[in-house]
Formats: sequence, structure tokens, C-alpha cells
Amino acid sequence: MVEFSLPANSKVLPGKTHKAPAGAKKVKTFALYRFDPDSGKNPRLDRYEIDLEACGPMVLDALIKIKNEIDPTVTFRRSCREGICGSCAMNIDGTNTLACLKPIEEIKGEAKIYPLPHMPVIKDLVADLSVPYAQYTAIKPWLQADSAPPPDGERRQSPKEREKLDGLWECILCFCCQTSCPSYWWNGDRYLGPSILLQAYRWLVDSRDELTGERLDELDDPYRLYRCHTILNCTNTCPKGLNPGQAIGSIKQMIAARR
Ligand code: SF4
Ligand code: SF4
Ligand code: FES
Repeated sequence: MVEFSLPANSKVLPGKTHKAPAGAKKVKTFALYRFDPDSGKNPRLDRYEIDLEACGPMVLDALIKIKNEIDPTVTFRRSCREGICGSCAMNIDGTNTLACLKPIEEIKGEAKIYPLPHMPVIKDLVADLSVPYAQYTAIKPWLQADSAPPPDGERRQSPKEREKLDGLWECILCFCCQTSCPSYWWNGDRYLGPSILLQAYRWLVDSRDELTGERLDELDDPYRLYRCHTILNCTNTCPKGLNPGQAIGSIKQMIAARR
């Protein structure tokens, strides 16, 4: 398990405790990071006691229960609730993961929930992801080719060529890896980070893409690529079981091979 520090906001103060309803049989406490930058107040940790007998099995179920039944001001992102959209990424029990895929029963004692670390916070558990999204746009994550497509418009791949995308196309851009990377914490303005580099590699190995050389030129930079020091927090934390550390190593090999 990789442990991370608190978000880069000032001191977190103790907040309110919302007690479990009378007669609750299986009580679990969820300590949620609460922060509204517009309030001018410090962040706080509010505690919510939930009866697990009246709650679904995942952390996202508990958050939805808290919002629906106890405190509608709690703010978090979610959409698909099945590990596809990536929007419920947060730091749960010290690890970046998806709230909808994290079973409550895996958490011992109080469940501490923070936003993705080292990012500005918009509100509560919602991190500001504008920088990684701008970095994603910068790598041109679409097929680029100078040649005209075949008459039917389909650029085909053999099964072997298609296999090269396995372990890459599954990335849901949740940024759990990106925000677990110490190099990204310190140089996030210039280092592209593991999510974006895995995506860049996905286009480098796509047999239909014809701008591999230009893509490598763009990545061959002491900050954009070479801030990765192979610490592998990224690979350890990916909730989809992907290996951004390996993808970054492969990009470095592609660049070394053409020198
Ligand atoms: S392997 Fe590279 S990208 Fe992954 S956590 Fe380490 S420094 Fe960051
Ligand atoms: S590699 Fe994994 S952790 Fe990183 S953005 Fe993609 S799905 Fe999320
Ligand atoms: S709600 Fe979509 S990944 Fe969790």
C-alpha cells in the first residue's frame, strides 16, 4: 500500500461528528475532508457514523448515503458507479483509488477520505484536474496520419497490431496514478505524469498512427518525460491494474533506440 500526504491546503481542523441513528447495529465512521476555498476557512474533517446494515458495500455507496440522508452539502464526483468513468477517484484510507470499486470492508477502523493529493481543491473531495486535462490535450490523443485513408475509410489493424494496445486502452483517465507520483507533485507544471505518458504510449504503438517520430520529438524533454524516476507509485495504485511505469520505460526505450 502506498501512503500519501494530505492535499496541499493548510492545516485540517477537526469538524462535526454526525452520530449514527439510534438502534444502528453495525456502525462505521467515515471521516471526510471538507473544504470550500471560497469560505476563507481552513479545511476540516467531518465524521459521519453510518449503519452498514443499511448501506451498500462500496465506499461510494456510503458517500451517496451520507449526501442523500445526512448532509447534502458533501461534494464529490461520480457517474457510472462501476469503475468506467474515473470520476470518483479519491484518496481512501491512504491510497488513491475509485470509491465505487473500494469495498468498505477492506478498511480497518475509521475510513478517512480525502481528495486526490497535491492538487488544488474545488470543493471537498473534488480536485481541480484542469492541468492534467490540458496536458492530455497537449499529447494530441487522436489518430494522426498524413496518408489518405482507404476508400472505405477504415484503417485496419491485424490482431497482433491490435494486441499492442492491450493494457493501454483500458485507462479511464482517473488520475489516481498521476496524483500518486512524487515527481508529478513537485514538477506537475512541466512533467507530463504517468496517466498522460501512458496515453502518449498508447498512440506511439498504434500501428495506424503515422506521426510516431513527431510524437517522440515532443516527449524527448528532460521534464516532460525524464522526470520519471521509476518509483512506481503509479503502477501500485492504478485501480484498473495497468502499468504506467512500464509504458514510460517503453517510451524511453523507443527514444534511446533512435539515437
Ligand atoms: S514510475 Fe515514474 S511516473 Fe510512476 S510514480 Fe514513479 S516517477 Fe512517477
Ligand atoms: S493508468 Fe490507471 S490510475 Fe492511471 S489514469 Fe489510467 S486508469 Fe487511472
Ligand atoms: S463512479 Fe465511475 S469510476 Fe467510480
